[in-house]
Formats: sequence, structure tokens, C-alpha cells
Amino acid sequence: MTADPLLTPVLDRLDADLDAAMARLMNLLRIPSISTDPAYAEPVRQAADWLVEDLTSLGFDASRRDTPGHPMVVGHGGSGGRHLLFYGHYDVQPVDPLDLWDRDPFDPEVQDTPKGKVIRGRGTSDDKGQLMTFVEACRAWKAVHGTLPCKLTLFFEGEEESGSPSLVPFLKEHAEELQAELALICDTGLFADRVPAITTRLRGMLQEEITITGPDKDLHSGTFGGAAINPIRVLSRVLADLHDETGRVTIPGFYDGVAELSDDQRAQWEGLNFDHKAFLGGVGLSDPAGEQDRTPLEMLWSRPTCEINGIWGGYTGAGFKTVLPSKAHAKISFRLVGKQDPHAIRTNLRAMIEAALPADCSVTFETHGAGPASEMDTSDPAFEQARKALTEEWDVEAAMIGCGGSIPVAGYFKEHVGMDAMLIGFGKDDDQLHSPNEKYDVESFHKGMRSWARILAALARD
Ligand code: BES
Ligand code: ZN
Repeated sequence: MTADPLLTPVLDRLDADLDAAMARLMNLLRIPSISTDPAYAEPVRQAADWLVEDLTSLGFDASRRDTPGHPMVVGHGGSGGRHLLFYGHYDVQPVDPLDLWDRDPFDPEVQDTPKGKVIRGRGTSDDKGQLMTFVEACRAWKAVHGTLPCKLTLFFEGEEESGSPSLVPFLKEHAEELQAELALICDTGLFADRVPAITTRLRGMLQEEITITGPDKDLHSGTFGGAAINPIRVLSRVLADLHDETGRVTIPGFYDGVAELSDDQRAQWEGLNFDHKAFLGGVGLSDPAGEQDRTPLEMLWSRPTCEINGIWGGYTGAGFKTVLPSKAHAKISFRLVGKQDPHAIRTNLRAMIEAALPADCSVTFETHGAGPASEMDTSDPAFEQARKALTEEWDVEAAMIGCGGSIPVAGYFKEHVGMDAMLIGFGKDDDQLHSPNEKYDVESFHKGMRSWARILAALARD
């Protein structure tokens, strides 16, 4: 099957060069490119420079593009065949709580685990390890053939983990330069252990921070308790009322734009035989907790959510303090699907909370971002070609899946550059993205590079 004279030596080269590729990845992982914390602006820039240098060494015309936020990296290389753009992000999440890591998050190492070898460290899976699978496939192609497989634009972002504030302006300004026939995005996962996947839908996102104020200062709960309103009680009621007893979100109009699955889509997902017991069992759970009349895959891929991500107020330190707090806060986020409009939901959420407030309380809102869901156009023959290439590499049929996470750039490519996207990645559900002890399987890295080489060989041709 793989007796492709162009491809076979590239795959052999990737196998032979694995240790060196891991060493290069380790160098990138050592740079603490945390985008959300301004104290790390310099390392974020260093990571961008590292990538520019690496791409330049592969013959790309690569440069760091400074923005009002963190830089983008753009590289152009190769010629002929399909023109493809590859996107990944080189910024990472913060590392706290640090005491839950088993080692320095920015001193990565390869560890043996019962499930195989893993690379442990921040950004291994999200997204530096994934991004480098593509770069390494390019490197091997260049080493073997002296050229890249086709015309390639590489585009790396340094703000993905902090809301991508510079992305849309950058895409608008450079739409022509970034234009390609198809965008490849490597920031998603396998369907299951050793089962490769193409992700065809992503959920959107709305993030709101709420502060409810009662008394104008913190009070002694003996002096005032009973007579003075407690904003934490008010906030708790407001948050509890966001869902009904069946798990549905109660915000007026919330389900506008949410479509039922087509029969075909439902049948295809049923055919995946998703093992939700193993999925939840992996994190110490057993019962799917979403809308009661939905299957677990629907809950994850095609239904919207409302989650409380953080809640604070009053006294939470050591010991005890009988305080009646002035303020109560919560951060809540919504995963959106279909044609749900994040702006309408924000308006309706705010109106609902304002209407629920007792006379002595006030509320302020701060928004942290909003973007709709996106669905890929799988009619492009590239999807079938890539699916075949993945199936050949992993020796098991590649699955077409949804993703519960949000990767806004896929929708932005469509909207601002007029370019469709194909999402392929090699992460796993137990990679501990955004958490302590993040890891990427060595197998994901190795077979990820080989997968890209095969996909490039298949797509480069037309
Ligand atoms: N790589 C993730 C997206 C992802 C999550 C893919 C889970 C596969 C499984 C990405 O870096 C991410 O975390 N995105 C954020 C975006 C949000 C802040 C707009 C997310 O989904 O929370
Ligand atoms: Zn990511």
C-alpha cells in the first residue's frame, strides 16, 4: 500500500530521525510561552523566533510578525501542487497549580508509563508537540527530496490560549498572503487509542464574568446577618437557575439555532461505538451529566453547554471568618453549536440575571470572548484523501468526529480568508490539556509526523 516511491523514503527518514525530532521539540517546550500572563511576553517572542529560525533552516521564507499582542509566525515555501496552509499555536496555558506537577512544566522529559512512553511538560499536546509533527514531516521531505512536497504556508499563532485578540485583525490585513486552497489545523485529537480522526465540527464559545454586589462593604454576619442581603446567596440562586432539572439551559432563546442531528450523522456517530463508560471512567466518573435525553456523544459534540468555571467571594482562607461579603463573583462559559448566536445569548443571559436580582443587589458583567460554532465542508476530496492516508498509517479506519472544544481560527479562516479547514490531530483524552502533568504520547508524535507525510503525499498531487 505504501510503496509510493516519493513517500516511503520520507517515512523511513522520519523513523530514523525520531530522537533528533524529539530533541528539537524539547527545545521548543523549554521556552515558557504562556500567552495570558504579560510577564511571559519575552519567552513568547523567543518561541516565535525559535520557530522562524527552524522554518528558515528548512528553506521557508519565514518571519516573525509583531502584533499589538503576541507575534504571529508566517513561513512560505515549496511550489506546485495544491497550496496548503498549516496552522498551529505555539503559546501555552499557565502552569498553576505548580505543586500538582510531578516535575518542572518547562523541563520536559520522556517518561515510561504503563500505557507507553510519553513526553511530559506544558505544551506537549496543546499545541507544540502537534505543531512540530507537521514541521518534522516537512523537514524529512526536504531532507529526502531536496524540496517541500507542494506550495506551503505555515502560520503559527502565539495568542490562542488567551482569546486570540490579534488574530482577526491579522487575518483581515493579510488575507491575500494567507490565502491557500485548504487550511490544515493540528490542534485536535485521535478518536480513541490508536484510532485516527478528522474533526468535522467544533463548538463555539461565550465567556462571561459576573459580579453581584450587595452591601457597600464586607459586614460582620452577627451584626448584620439576617437583615442584610448576602450576594453569594443571590449568585448561587442565579447560577443554580441556569439549568432545569433535566439539564437544559433555561436562558430564553438559548436553543435558537441548535439543530437536531441528521439521520445520517446520528447513524455515523452510533457506528463509532463510543465507550462513554471508559471515557468517564478515565476521570473517576460514571454517569453522563448533560441533558437527560441525549447520548454522551451528542452531549459532547452537538449540544450546547453552560458551565460555571469559577466562583468566589467572601472568606476562603485558612480558619474561619464570619463575614457577610459585599461581592460575589463567577466565571461562566457556554459551548455553542449550530447557528447559536453568542451575542444574542450574552444579551439574554444578562437580562435574565438582572431580572432575577433583589432590589438591594446590582450586577456588572465583563465579557471575555465570543465566537460561534463551526462545521467543516467535507465535500472537498482532500477529506477522503486524508482519511485514506490516516487509515493507512494507523491500520484502522480513520473516524470522522466532532470536538467539544473550540478552535475559533477554523471559523475565522472561512470568514476572513475564504478558506476551508481540515482538522487533524493526534492528542488523546488523557493528555491533561490545560492541567498539571500535561503529556503527549511518543506514539502520537511519531505516528503524527508519519501521518502528515502521508497526507502531504496524497494532497500535494492535485
Ligand atoms: N487545543 C484546544 C482545543 C481542544 C480542546 C481540542 C479539547 C481538542 C480537545 C485549544 O487550544 C483550546 O483550548 N481552545 C480553547 C478556546 C477557547 C478559550 C476560545 C477552548 O476550547 O477552551
Ligand atoms: Zn490548542
